[in-house]
Amino acid sequence: MAHDAATKIWGTGFYVPPTVVTNDDLAKRFDTSDEWIQQRSGIKERRYSTAEDTPAAMGEKAARKAIEDAGLEVSDIDTIIVASLSPDHDFPGVACFVQHRLGLPGTACIDIRNQCTGLLYSLATADAFIRVGQAKHVLVIGTEVHSTGLDFSNEGRDVTVLFGDGAAAMVVGPTDDPKRGFLTHCLRADGSGAKQLWIPAPGSSYFPHRAPKSMYEDRSMYPQMNGRAVFKFACTKLPEIIGEALAKTGYGQDDIDVLVPHQANMRINEMVAKQLGFPQDKVVHNIQKYGNTTAASVGIAFHEAKQDGRIQEGSLVMLAAFGSGFTWAASLVRI
Ligand SMILES: CC(C)(COP(=O)(O)OP(=O)(O)OC[C@H]1O[C@@H](n2cnc3c(N)ncnc32)[C@H](O)[C@@H]1OP(=O)(O)O)[C@@H](O)C(=O)NCCC(=O)NCCS
Repeated sequence: MAHDAATKIWGTGFYVPPTVVTNDDLAKRFDTSDEWIQQRSGIKERRYSTAEDTPAAMGEKAARKAIEDAGLEVSDIDTIIVASLSPDHDFPGVACFVQHRLGLPGTACIDIRNQCTGLLYSLATADAFIRVGQAKHVLVIGTEVHSTGLDFSNEGRDVTVLFGDGAAAMVVGPTDDPKRGFLTHCLRADGSGAKQLWIPAPGSSYFPHRAPKSMYEDRSMYPQMNGRAVFKFACTKLPEIIGEALAKTGYGQDDIDVLVPHQANMRINEMVAKQLGFPQDKVVHNIQKYGNTTAASVGIAFHEAKQDGRIQEGSLVMLAAFGSGFTWAASLVRI
């Protein structure tokens, strides 16, 4: 039966693997320095997974925390949506592996790609499912293992220094309180920028074999990025989409209590806040500790801001993200 109220965030959690990798650690593997990385991105360290911390395993750990935080039992979950650009396997999706780990046979499982914007696309999907009565308690997860797919040579250093591993989870469900929950989602993409940030191989566009041997020699199995184009895109599109979410809901910038942006680069987020005239102290930054955890980043930042008291019941929170695709999105939510 359709639910005519709203969808709120019932609980959140995250998990990052224990291994800390500092900028100095990376400088031992290729030509870079702590100073270069911090100046350009704000990153001081990131986490790298071990063999047992696969995307599904980390997703499960984050999920159990979010379910507990929501005051629910695992068995209350009826739908699982996982966003990841680094799935455990080509197929099936990560959601099926998480579902099995949680022991929830029969629940609907959905995988969403959309890279750094994946969590926001997943939340919008969960919200729509709940509003039409298709689902009640949706587990939304963003989870990534980047460290096993990065190029640790000088050629890949521009990308490699930016990324880290981790997982975040949110449990969303219905609320009868008309003042709470998601107020809008703005989802956008522009595929003309698809090759500005991507991993070409392996893939089914290669013939006759989807994993061409050449991918080892030409390094097409590693992420390729036009850093400057991505930087410019983010600084243009984030203020635009935040403005769109405000215009759709009738709120002003001053009404926002906390902005939780995707953690790709502290300089980008500082620039976006400046462009919007938004106070820096209302912007959540944790990229120093984790680097860019892609689909997990907004969820981890949200949870930490909740833990330190910046996000409270009643807070008006803007979530915003951009990434490969290009994709970008914003969601406005009353906690
Ligand atoms: C990647 C990024 C930090 C590079 O910063 P930049 O100021 O544009 O730096 P440039 O690419 O001009 O490179 C400057 C120099 O540093 C070098 N360099 C690149 N990576 C380096 C590294 N890790 N350590 C040291 N030097 C590095 C380059 O080779 C270049 O050297 P050159 O001048 O001798 O040619 C920046 O473009 C960026 O943050 N872009 C957005 C990336 C992003 O957010 N991606 C994820 C989106 S979800």
